[in-house]
Amino acid sequence: MEEANARAQVRMARIASHMRAPEGNSMVGLEREPTRARGAAPGFKVAVLGAAGGIGQPLSLLMKMHPLVSTLHLYDVFNTPGVVADLSHTNTSAVVRGFLGNDQLGPALTGMDLVIIPAGVPRKPGMTRDDLFNINAGIVRTLIEGCAKHCPRAFINIISNPVNSTVPIAAEVLKLAGVYDPKRLFGVTTLDVVRANTFVAEVIGVDPKTVDVPVLGGHAGITILPILSQVTPQFTFTDKEVAYLTNRIQNGGTEVVEAKAGTGSATLSMAYAAAEFAQSCLRALQGESGIIECAYVASEVTELPFFATKVRIGREGIEEIFPVGPLNHHEREGIEKLKPELRQSIEKGVNFVHNPPPKKS
Ligand code: 2OP
Repeated sequence: MEEANARAQVRMARIASHMRAPEGNSMVGLEREPTRARGAAPGFKVAVLGAAGGIGQPLSLLMKMHPLVSTLHLYDVFNTPGVVADLSHTNTSAVVRGFLGNDQLGPALTGMDLVIIPAGVPRKPGMTRDDLFNINAGIVRTLIEGCAKHCPRAFINIISNPVNSTVPIAAEVLKLAGVYDPKRLFGVTTLDVVRANTFVAEVIGVDPKTVDVPVLGGHAGITILPILSQVTPQFTFTDKEVAYLTNRIQNGGTEVVEAKAGTGSATLSMAYAAAEFAQSCLRALQGESGIIECAYVASEVTELPFFATKVRIGREGIEEIFPVGPLNHHEREGIEKLKPELRQSIEKGVNFVHNPPPKKS
C-alpha cells in the first residue's frame, strides 16, 4: 500500500513538473520536481509570449513537438493553465510550463534561449496592420522590457503586428536597458516567403517545398516585396503573372482576414511559418552552419535602419546580411516605392518608445 502511495506521489510530481507555474505559484496544487523534469530531452528553452492566442496555441503545439526544444514556457494574460494542461498531454519530450499575467513574466523568461512573441490583437476586415499599433505597441514594449531584464542574450522573434514598427520598438527598449544586440532581434517575415513559395509553386506547377522566393522590405502591404526574378527554380514570369503574384503575396494576410470575416487573421499559416523560422534559429544556436532565412532586421542594406533581406544566422545571431542582389526594373521601383512607408513605420516605433503617449486613466 505504501509502495503504491509512493508511486502515486512520483506520478503526481511528474505531472506537476509539466504543469507548474513559477516557484511558489502552483497551478494545480501538486508537489513539484526540480526545473527540468525527469526524462526531458536535451535541447533549448523556448518561451512563447501570447501563447493562449490564435497564433500562440498552434505555435506552442509545433514547438512542443520540436525535437530541439527541451523546455517550453507559455506566457499569456489569460488561459495559459488551460493551454498548458492540454499540451502537457502530448507525448513529446519537451516539458511545458504555464505563466499567467504580468507578475509571472520574469519566471517565464528566465533562462530562455529563444523568445517568440505573437502577443497582441489581430486585424479585422478593413484594418491595416498599422491600425493595431495603439494596442500592440504597448504590449510589445512590456514584453521586451521583460526580455531585457530576464533573458537579455536570448534570440527574440517578433510576430506581433505591425512588425514594421514593433521590431524598432523592441530595439529601442533593449537599447534603453543597455542590452541591445541587433544580431539577436528578428522580425518574422517567413509567412511572406511561405505564401510566395506556395503561390509561385501553383503558377509554375511544382512542389512548393522546392521553391524559394526571397521577399524583401517589411511585413505590410507594399512593403512586402517578392523578388520574383530571383526565384528558385529559375523561371521567367509573364507581366501578368508578376502582377498577380505580387498582389497576392502582398495581400495574403488581408485575404485571410477577409475570409475569417471578423474572427481574426492568419493563425495556422502564421504559426507554421513562425515555427519554421524558430527551427532555423534553434539549428543555428546548435551550431549548424549555412542557416539562411529572410527576416526583418537592423540593416545597412538600404538607407533605412531596418529592412527584410536574406540573413545568415549562427550561434551568436545574425552572421551576415545579404545584399538585395540583382533586381529588374519593376523590383527596383518596388523598393523605392516601399521606402517612405517603411521609414514612417520605423519612426513611429522609435517615437513610441522615446515620446510615449500619455497613459489613459
Ligand atoms: C499575416 O501576414 C498575421 O501578419 C500576419 O497574415
